[in-house]
Amino acid sequence: MRILNASGCLDALTAPDVARSLDAFVSKTVTPLPREGNAPVRIAETDVGMLNSIGLANPGRDAFLAETLPRLHELGMKVWISVGGFAAHEYAETCAQLDGVTIELNLSCPNVEEAADTAAAIVAAGRAATSLPLYAKLSPANWDIAEVAKAVQAAGADGLSLVNTLRGTALDDSLRPRLGTWSGGLSGPALKPVALAAVHACWRATRMPIVGMGGVMTGRDVLELVAVGAQDVALGTVLFRDPDAPDRVRAELAAELAALGVADVDDVRGVAHEGGVESLLSLTR
Ligand SMILES: Cc1cc2nc3c(=O)[nH]c(=O)nc-3n(C[C@H](O)[C@H](O)[C@H](O)COP(=O)(O)O)c2cc1C
Repeated sequence: MRILNASGCLDALTAPDVARSLDAFVSKTVTPLPREGNAPVRIAETDVGMLNSIGLANPGRDAFLAETLPRLHELGMKVWISVGGFAAHEYAETCAQLDGVTIELNLSCPNVEEAADTAAAIVAAGRAATSLPLYAKLSPANWDIAEVAKAVQAAGADGLSLVNTLRGTALDDSLRPRLGTWSGGLSGPALKPVALAAVHACWRATRMPIVGMGGVMTGRDVLELVAVGAQDVALGTVLFRDPDAPDRVRAELAAELAALGVADVDDVRGVAHEGGVESLLSLTR
């Protein structure tokens, strides 16, 4: 089980020490052309998490490949590149230019409908363009996320990243929207039950490697995502509040495992599907 950051929630070049406390660094989504992102206000706190309407602000593929990526490699870490676009060929063009990284296809970009066939078409185009490890990052807004997971598996994805944000709106005291764009992506604690359901459904349907994310704040949250089938876990919103979260979460996870009498977190993978941790302990006794 590796601990990564969630795309867009850490800038490794401004916070290299936080990045080095992770097992791999995931970039913010890169699109073919530069994007300034949405008009402010782009971040709002809510009682249950955070809303953001960053709008995929990024320097664009050419500047990323020429300037950002070489500096990321200098950190000496495993690097994942989050690839975005507005059509399958745009994703494929970026994939073709990458080397020595894992690719996460962000299939939740604005204007990219995540119907199973569209997601599969994007993955198939990416697969044809590269032999690098290819993860498909899915939105939990699709009620039948396991169908999308099966479609992207058939199209050649090696793994899944689950989940991206859900659309939400928050109002201020004068009953006006707090975000410049009205609505944005809801992340943080509210997403944890959504992430558990998505990982559970997709693992059962595909048995693919899954990076679980959504509202992870503690070691217990990591344990639960692994129990429903995640192989790896990513930290998102928590990194804005607590840059020490990777080390803290690892320590909390070790304490949770010790309390359960389990030696290795990987032994817990999928146990929620098989009667919980007691089924595991009965095997080792
Ligand atoms: C400020 C912010 C920016 C994000 N940018 C991206 C992005 O560029 N690409 C992407 O795939 N997900 C992006 N996400 C979604 C996260 O990667 C993650 O899927 C989501 O926040 C759920 O995890 P969390 O609840 O732990 O934050 C962003 C989230 C936040 C809060």
